[in-house]
Amino acid sequence: MKYKDIIAEMTLEEKASLMSGKDYWQTQDIERLGIKSIFLADGPHGIRRQAVAADKLGLNEGVPATCYPTAATVANSWNVELGEKVGEYLGEEAIEQNVNVLLGPGINMKRNPLCGRNFEYFSEDPYLTGKMAAGYIRGIQSFGVSACVKHFAVNNQEEKRMTIDTIVDERALREIYLTAFEIAVKEGNTKAIMSSYNKLNGTYTNENTHLMQDILRGEWQYDGTVITDWGGSNDRIEGLEAGNELEMPTTGGETDQEIVAAICNGDLSEDILDKSVDRLLDLIFTTQNAYKKPKIDFDIEKHHRVSQKVAEESIVLLKNDQEILPLKFGKKVAVIGDFAKDARYQGAGSSIVNPTILDHTMDCFEESGIINIGYEPGFERYGKKDPKKIENACELAKQADVVLLYIGLDEVTEAEGLDRKDMKIPENQIELLEALHAVNPNIVGIISCGSAVEMPWIDKVQGLLHGYLGGQAGARAILRVLSGDVNPSGKLAESYPLKYEDTPSYQHFPGKEATVEYRESIYIGYRYYDSADVDVLFPFGFGLSYTTFEYSDISVDKNGVSFKLTNSGSKAGMEVAQLYVGCKSGNIFRAKKELKGFIKVFINAGETKTVRIPFNDNTFRYFNVKTNQWEIEKAEYQIMIGASSADIKLQEEVFMEGTNAPLPYVKELLPSYYKGQVNQVPSDEFEHLIGEKLPDPNWDRDKPLGYNDMIAQCHYAKGVFGRLLYKSVLFSHWFLRKIGKRSTANLIMMSIYNMPFRGIARMTGGMVNMPMVDGILMMVNGRFFKGFFHLLKEKFKLAKAKNPKTL
Ligand code: BGC
Repeated sequence: MKYKDIIAEMTLEEKASLMSGKDYWQTQDIERLGIKSIFLADGPHGIRRQAVAADKLGLNEGVPATCYPTAATVANSWNVELGEKVGEYLGEEAIEQNVNVLLGPGINMKRNPLCGRNFEYFSEDPYLTGKMAAGYIRGIQSFGVSACVKHFAVNNQEEKRMTIDTIVDERALREIYLTAFEIAVKEGNTKAIMSSYNKLNGTYTNENTHLMQDILRGEWQYDGTVITDWGGSNDRIEGLEAGNELEMPTTGGETDQEIVAAICNGDLSEDILDKSVDRLLDLIFTTQNAYKKPKIDFDIEKHHRVSQKVAEESIVLLKNDQEILPLKFGKKVAVIGDFAKDARYQGAGSSIVNPTILDHTMDCFEESGIINIGYEPGFERYGKKDPKKIENACELAKQADVVLLYIGLDEVTEAEGLDRKDMKIPENQIELLEALHAVNPNIVGIISCGSAVEMPWIDKVQGLLHGYLGGQAGARAILRVLSGDVNPSGKLAESYPLKYEDTPSYQHFPGKEATVEYRESIYIGYRYYDSADVDVLFPFGFGLSYTTFEYSDISVDKNGVSFKLTNSGSKAGMEVAQLYVGCKSGNIFRAKKELKGFIKVFINAGETKTVRIPFNDNTFRYFNVKTNQWEIEKAEYQIMIGASSADIKLQEEVFMEGTNAPLPYVKELLPSYYKGQVNQVPSDEFEHLIGEKLPDPNWDRDKPLGYNDMIAQCHYAKGVFGRLLYKSVLFSHWFLRKIGKRSTANLIMMSIYNMPFRGIARMTGGMVNMPMVDGILMMVNGRFFKGFFHLLKEKFKLAKAKNPKTL
């Protein structure tokens, strides 16, 4: 242990006290030993530091900070160095704001396009995610502060995120859901990891020894800190035993006392506590070292411009018929769409950044050189139909050469704690598009949202630009692409299915009650569409440019692949070349191809560059469930170089000797997986894959509600009080939406409806403790008066313990 001398001086109570927060954002301090608190702040695409004293629940607006494009956006740049740059700027701002741990990046896989937090995550591909995340982490940590990758792991739906049990087979877990975390640990050297809220195969991730011990601490040799997601601690002792150092936020000392009691009665070894304290002290001391240098004031303008550059490199050009873009000199444009006036630039929830500056399209036209003849909102942002707005927009469109139509999703649709209901752009926006098309078909659509949407209307636009969520300077960045000042070079980091029903997890998302079954196994995103031959609207890795690129002269050796890239167009530009690998044997089910490398190259018009993508430990490996380790199959492999996952330009084959492991599967038992047709896997086949019987997916309605049941489950509570509580939550949600308070309505769903009862104690900073939760449970379970008096008694006891003199 690094800090054994200090630990030897601590009392048991002091050690235990370090294991949970001092308040919502800070760790505990022990003054007599010189241990100071450190500050943790969201993240991930800007600093959200709140004034401590003002807010017990972490709901206040943060101190202004640069709002960079969200991870879903930056992933489209496929530029790891750019990710590292963003990390550096975040690190610098963290220092300025006295933040020691930045709660990001978020690196969960986009298993399904409807996950409410997809805008905060990078990609559906673990390799791309891991590489981008490692860049961010290196950048953040280069300033001496710590990143905190989240949410470890398989946190892929927002609804019921604090109780849902994810049922996933070991191979998909390793290859899809953990690979990005592995890269973040091994290449990013993250100092901190946040455990997720959900369960993994029956056990809360925070207590899951397979995840936390066997894999994280064992195989990956991780020696940093594990922090619970806020309020995500279930059993503190089991969490500690699994290797969780820090429970956040504070529980007013309640769980510290549990630790002390567990050690005194022999349920927990003090050695485990000491080691956890040691690792946490390392985080505390090393991130405090960052503050030994003189403090810097960050340059607000400069950071704003960096944020713009990042957005520019992340914008994806999806369609450009008759080269409508870049806008030709002298063309008159009509600007239509509410998002042009009030830019949509980030998502909702814990990641909300209070931007230092905010660009809106209508304020940036002058410098763009585009002749703008006027603006019309065209639609009501939150979906209400308004024929007058459409009429006015059409009048304006008639006078223009080109219509710039700004459409997308509003900020409350993409939010933490809630999943989207569908993949559609609101109908009132599509009606507007149709009306505009009838009067002027020269339409360029500009989409703002952080996740994939359906586009049955795509024939009605001639050009289409996806800005994703471009941060505080995103609006200006888009104009620079429209005008041709910037040649677009982003490529999609997620697939766009033709319709939601085509997605492989369509039947199993979100998990409705107790479990969510990942029946599609390793086949998420392009791995599925490609293997099952399902047509998509835009494939993974797709994006256009104002120039063209040619690929030639592939050569493959043992260590990598080289080829030539020529810019055959007339403008300088950047191309993202992608390396995919496919295995020809068919002995083990696999996706047709998997991303194993990529490179972004700048090439002048007419120039040719030779580029190389090296192989690495990841290139040929698969996880063998029989040997329980990574293996390489002896086989012939296709080495493919593509401009997207569906546009393979060059191909070669190599033979690998492999590691001679036994075959992991009985092929006959897994026909859907061997065919790649995994959208309707029967239960028994999935059971063969996971090697055990499936747990009951439904809640047990006969049992009284307990700590880990959600408040939403009160709809079948035994007591009238419980059922009334349920109805009143639903009513408040409905009412708040009705009066236009959409964000507050969302908050009710996230922090009440989807909250387990234990969360009432874990999230209220010590105002409510677990014995009081017992009272509440009695009340909802049909013993109202007994519960009520129990609640009062415990409340009184708590108040007395806190303030013995006044009561
Ligand atoms: C979110 C985390 C966030 C934390 C602190 C949680 O609800 O899931 O991503 O870092 O709150 O705000």
